[in-house]
Amino acid sequence: MPLNIVVGTQWGDEGKGKIVDYLASSADCVVRFNGGNNAGHTVVINGQKHAFHILPSGAVSGKKSVIANGTVIDPAVLLGEIKTLRETNPDFELYISDRAHVILPYHKLMDGVMDDAKGKLGAGTTRRGIGPAYADKMNRIGVRICDLLDEESLREKIAFNLKIKRKVFQELGIKEVPSAEQVTREYAAYGHELAGHVTETVILLNDLLKAGATVLGEGAHGMHLDIDHGIYPFNTSSNIVAGNVNCGAGIPVKNVNRIIGTVKAYTTRVGTGPVPTELDNEIGQLLREKGGEYGTTTHRPRRCGWLDLVLVKHSNLLNGLTGLAVTKLDVLAGLDEIKVCTHYEHPEKGRLEIIPADMRVFARCRPVYRSFESWSVSAIENLEEKTGNGFQALPVEMQEYLRFIESETGVPVEFVSYGADRKATIRL
Ligand code: IMP
Ligand code: MG
Repeated sequence: MPLNIVVGTQWGDEGKGKIVDYLASSADCVVRFNGGNNAGHTVVINGQKHAFHILPSGAVSGKKSVIANGTVIDPAVLLGEIKTLRETNPDFELYISDRAHVILPYHKLMDGVMDDAKGKLGAGTTRRGIGPAYADKMNRIGVRICDLLDEESLREKIAFNLKIKRKVFQELGIKEVPSAEQVTREYAAYGHELAGHVTETVILLNDLLKAGATVLGEGAHGMHLDIDHGIYPFNTSSNIVAGNVNCGAGIPVKNVNRIIGTVKAYTTRVGTGPVPTELDNEIGQLLREKGGEYGTTTHRPRRCGWLDLVLVKHSNLLNGLTGLAVTKLDVLAGLDEIKVCTHYEHPEKGRLEIIPADMRVFARCRPVYRSFESWSVSAIENLEEKTGNGFQALPVEMQEYLRFIESETGVPVEFVSYGADRKATIRL
């Protein structure tokens, strides 16, 4: 009755979608337990790109897909993704928690305006309404998927929300707010369309586990965007740590078997806040272009830099990782030198091994690096033909890089990914 979980160890976009897709082949069910359509996962199968924001990336592999209670759902976006996936995968199975919260038009209106109003404390959100939807959940005025199926209750909740938010809209200069009746009608119609997928997913997931099925928890984002443990306030509004499968999907922690942390071979960040290893130079630009580092959701250029093992070690502390999946190693091929940050130096506090709570302290942290030789571009061409030999088939420089990541984090590397396609992945 195992539950395996994949989480991002950095700031998201580590290539989780690909690793989830890979692991989904031996799972019966894939579940999303946090976040919403602020996430973006790209899966490439036989050269065809699939980008998902709210559907679990495992959905392409035809496994049972669950969007659990800990997520926030924009129904129009979800319906769009269902339609797209149906074209290539007509009978994929989707289950949506009746307890998941709904992103409403007023959340989206508030998100960007609020983020701008925060000035330098804004996170540079994806403007998908994530923060305001989670805020309503915590304030116990949220609208849940079950409410979409009960038009009377929906009308009442939306009317209340619009009434109490009116002052905030005025203050933020938001004028074009749809009427309560408009929102109710539109969302009740979404409820009608989604109804066939809506269920008590807690029971479904626990029954599956009891019957001996393998469930894969697909974490969205990366650990350092976690609402409790991330770089507050430049983070997202959900819990990203693996333990959130308990709250976010209702699966007891005793079921957890493996926790795989995805590590991109370098660092990227889309959004604001300090990034100690950021390279504001031609190497950063090269990583961005070669790695295609533009947001899947917002298409913003990602800030790029050297691998920061402080992020990864901090993630391991919180997630208790059983294995690492190191991705995008192809992007570092052919560089003269590769650097890895092992810890920070702060002018007053000295050596720091984890990210401090205070962002003013974090902003003054300087990365301390170890240098490595890179592997050549030709050394990783057609690597999949040689990978029957496992680790030994990898270029020696890459072996050294991976061994260093293992020795610093204390976590074995289980997956190595050196290209976007499903084939360019080896399991050690
Ligand atoms: P929000 O989640 O849209 O509220 O955005 C909050 C912060 O998290 C912003 O800096 C976003 O760019 C960042 N963020 C949210 N989701 C992701 C993700 O999946 N990958 C990378 N960054 C993300
Ligand atoms: Mg992403």
